Amino acid sequence: MSIVRSELTEWKALEAHRAEMDRVHLRALFAADPQRAEHFSLEAAGWLLDYSKNRITKTTLGRLFALARACDLEPARDAMFGGEHINATEDRAVLHTALRNRSDAPVYTDGEDVMPEVRAVLEQVFDFAERVRSGSWKGHTGKPVRAVVNLGIGGSDLGPCMACEALKAFSRRDISVRFVSNVDGTHFAEQVRDLDPEQTLFVVASKSFTTQETMTNAHSAREWLLASLPEQAVARHFVAVSTNAELVSRFGIDAERNMFRFWDWVGGRYSLCSAIGLPLVVAIGREGFEQLLDGFHAMDRHFAEASLERNLPVVMALLGVWYHSFLGAESFAVLPYDQYLHRLPAYLQQADMESNGKGADREGRPVPYTTGPVLWGEPGTNGQHAFYQLIHQGTRLIPCDFIGFCRSHNALGDHHAKLMANIFAQTEALAFGKTAEELRAESTPEPLVPFKCFEGNRPTNTLLADELNPYSLGALVAAYEHKIFCQGIVWNILSFDQWGVQLGKVLAGKILAELKAAASPDLAHDSSTNALIRRFRERRQG
Ligand code: F6P
Repeated sequence: MSIVRSELTEWKALEAHRAEMDRVHLRALFAADPQRAEHFSLEAAGWLLDYSKNRITKTTLGRLFALARACDLEPARDAMFGGEHINATEDRAVLHTALRNRSDAPVYTDGEDVMPEVRAVLEQVFDFAERVRSGSWKGHTGKPVRAVVNLGIGGSDLGPCMACEALKAFSRRDISVRFVSNVDGTHFAEQVRDLDPEQTLFVVASKSFTTQETMTNAHSAREWLLASLPEQAVARHFVAVSTNAELVSRFGIDAERNMFRFWDWVGGRYSLCSAIGLPLVVAIGREGFEQLLDGFHAMDRHFAEASLERNLPVVMALLGVWYHSFLGAESFAVLPYDQYLHRLPAYLQQADMESNGKGADREGRPVPYTTGPVLWGEPGTNGQHAFYQLIHQGTRLIPCDFIGFCRSHNALGDHHAKLMANIFAQTEALAFGKTAEELRAESTPEPLVPFKCFEGNRPTNTLLADELNPYSLGALVAAYEHKIFCQGIVWNILSFDQWGVQLGKVLAGKILAELKAAASPDLAHDSSTNALIRRFRERRQG
């Protein structure tokens, strides 16, 4: 049995340090070191991370790096890149980094180089997407595709959906790429209501090809198509992205020609660079997707090669550990100041919360410390007019990542300068606040002083790149992926399984049968669940 992380000397050293840091304000830290921004910034793959507005000193960082080393972070990182079965409960390797390996180096797992297959599937995806883009892929009646509808959920939806939104400026506008994920029929109905079946292509994206939501939507899509086209049309209007060729064939899709494979060593939430990215390739083309892979790869190499002290994802991870495990922060906000990134928080919610929302350590013991935070966020400046009040003056500590770009794709008047003025102003206000003395110096009426005071000392990172493009998006997503990995290592949890989603799925299956039963079923749930089921059965007809 390994030592519980919170029993490590390095962990205890950070606990002791927390007491010292309790009295330290960012105002004092900046005043003491005029070069603080320089000392606490680093750059990787086109991104600047300014982490100077955090409640840290060199001592804090030194102790965090010592903790990371005591947790064997570097060997753990090498084990992931090396194809070891680090997803222990599923006995699988974790090799999403192979999907964007742009070097000639082989990537082995179980004695086999996965790169030839990775490249072959990528070529198959590029070739197919090009046929859709050029119009040479025809629907059943000979018309080109004008809408691609991805049917998937979780990792088979959030990644390509987020990236298609993020990279709209690089996308073909004459082919509409849409996403249906929810089992709520409204989602499907609203996404297809203006589409012409003859010009619509469905991508059934499911690693397992058993997920209830996706399969329900796939069957509804089939019915929708066959309402106006004959059975043979399915072959021209459906393709699949999956690891399960048998179930794909059973659905009626030619698994030989119209299925794009991936592998069990690609976790759903880490699958954007696999064939799951197909709708994105249709949107931005081969060149754009290759630039995205380049960005991912650049951050992968940085993560694999840079020292812990100069490693952007490692620094982001350790700052999170500091706030969540030592300073009591429960949540973490991701605040992109770019409208194109409006789905990034939702994407990162799955990446982070499905990975690190775990309560048992690697040896199955309950962890005596908190693990993954609640991740949330909205694009700036909308959030400023909604929840920032709580971040500025509420009673909770909420570390935030502010994400921005020096250039805009829509340079209308002074919009971009205003947007960026807001991002910089927010991190300044959060760090430095406004004191009672400053308010009095401005002749603020005394009764209002307590309400207008900003305590400050609220921690933020600023992530700044020149432009939102496929490369910078890839590097950003990779940075968050590796951040999540590092935190999982420090918290000693298994970041690549997701057993916590199973129970609800099983219970829903049982309840579905009870909802559909013709005669009143014998209900053996708790009194609340029984009553809700009965009420729904009684009232659903209106
Ligand atoms: O939510 C559970 C989950 O298994 C995710 O991890 C996954 O991304 C999603 O369901 C979809 O799974 P699939 O691609 O197999 O349909």
